[in-house]
Amino acid sequence: MAESTYPFDETAIWLARGRMEPVKQFVRSWNQVFLMRVEDGERQGLAIYKPRAGEYPLWDFPRGTLCLREVASYRLSRALGWPRIPPTVLRDGPYGLGMVQQFIEADPKANYFTLQESQRANLLPVALFDHLVNNADRKGGHLLLDPEGHIWAIDHALTFHVEPKLRTVIWDFAGEPIPAPYPEDLIRLRGQLEAGQPLQQDLARFLSLAELDGLRRRLDHLLALNRFPHPDPQRAHLPRPLV
Ligand SMILES: Nc1ncnc2c1ncn2[C@@H]1O[C@H](COP(=O)(O)OP(=O)(O)O)[C@@H](O)[C@H]1O
Ligand SMILES: [Mg+2]
Repeated sequence: MAESTYPFDETAIWLARGRMEPVKQFVRSWNQVFLMRVEDGERQGLAIYKPRAGEYPLWDFPRGTLCLREVASYRLSRALGWPRIPPTVLRDGPYGLGMVQQFIEADPKANYFTLQESQRANLLPVALFDHLVNNADRKGGHLLLDPEGHIWAIDHALTFHVEPKLRTVIWDFAGEPIPAPYPEDLIRLRGQLEAGQPLQQDLARFLSLAELDGLRRRLDHLLALNRFPHPDPQRAHLPRPLV
């Protein structure tokens, strides 16, 4: 995908530059999550803000890295061209450095379990991406359906761990071949992740070198397998709760 034509770039610039003020806090979240109003000149809209200082401590992920993982996930999706992750930036806000992501107006009744049949083709790249980033928390509610019928993937805080941690609700494709055009995109990504390449250097701002090695390792495994992996019977492979 050409650098200059990516459709979400304008939104990312708006998120990075806009004046932000809190609208409300999502009180049912583990981590501090705020709905923000963002304004930059003509453009006004809503965003999600997750300050680093409000990240819930976990035993397995280093402190203060969840916002970085969200940004790295977005930037990887941008390089691949899929899945559809709302533009996400790292910036300062009223509660300090954090991730800021475009807010998606979504159907509150929709989630993976209601979309599983009708949106199968659009869930496939999400499932593939989760294998790649080792997503430890793909809950059913982390898929949003917008008024135009697009599926958006959110909450990539628990990604890129060096150890196998995939926990996802999307096992529909297990054992199936990875269809076109995805293998081609994965092969292209492999080149972009070589040391010194712009994408590799960009991701190294957010992830450790060991985590980038892990990403390349999982990518090589997917390319060699050329199929969607089955769940590992030795490990928990579903998120809790499921939605
Ligand atoms: N980009 C977004 N657009 C719309 N709603 C969002 C977005 N990101 C998060 N949300 C809403 O906020 C809730 C909490 O966000 P999430 O990223 O899951 O944080 P946490 O896992 O800490 O609760 C989500 O379940 C969803 O309802
Ligand atoms: Mg969540």
